Amino acid sequence: MKTTGGSEDEKRRAGERAAELVADGTVVGLGTGSTTAHAIRALGERVGDGLDIRGIATSYQSADLAREVGVPLTTLDDAAPDLAIDGADRVAGFDLIKGGGAAHAREKLVASAADRFVVVVDPSKECDSLDGSVPVEVLPSARTPVSRTIEALGGDPTLRAAERKDGPVVTDNGNLVLDCGFDRIEEPGGLADELSGVPGIVEHGLFVGLADAVIVGTEAGVEKRERSR
Ligand code: A5P
Repeated sequence: MKTTGGSEDEKRRAGERAAELVADGTVVGLGTGSTTAHAIRALGERVGDGLDIRGIATSYQSADLAREVGVPLTTLDDAAPDLAIDGADRVAGFDLIKGGGAAHAREKLVASAADRFVVVVDPSKECDSLDGSVPVEVLPSARTPVSRTIEALGGDPTLRAAERKDGPVVTDNGNLVLDCGFDRIEEPGGLADELSGVPGIVEHGLFVGLADAVIVGTEAGVEKRERSR
């Protein structure tokens, strides 16, 4: 399910530009995935040069990388992020599909808590309107009733299978993931609201109205879009 496509250089340029936005003395949300990993490494270098920040991780992956590169960590119990940086699987304008790495529940929590949310992607993630599969994290006991509800909403749910483990993916939160195919998602906000109202769904991967800026790393440099609020 994990979307790939962009080059490592494109991802690195996006991640490094986002890391430049982090100011001294602030708290930064650390997203998950290969593009954000470049931002975390760049932040580690800046911390080595004296930058005073604390990070809030969104997954085991981002926490482990932050520790490895020397970014001190805190939690949402102790601090609120000034800025969150995270990748995406699909980007249409400022609407996103996330969760290719099954980390979208904590990613949405941290992005929502942040004063500002900056998305970092390569050009392969951009599309005119959201389409494809929406990851939905569900309580293990809810997978069958939630699957039926998603079918009634026009989706095609598939339990995400693990690699290098028999059976399903189990998220960092101990839940399962349904990858829910939808044809063109004409109204992401409407579908997001419907999914949010389904009992047993912990979180879905539609991020609507959250992103403040999108940084696209290209072969030539970066392109940055700012949302006017
Ligand atoms: C994690 O669950 C996802 O939301 C990632 O943020 C998203 O898949 C982007 O990852 P890449 O930067 O590796 O494409």
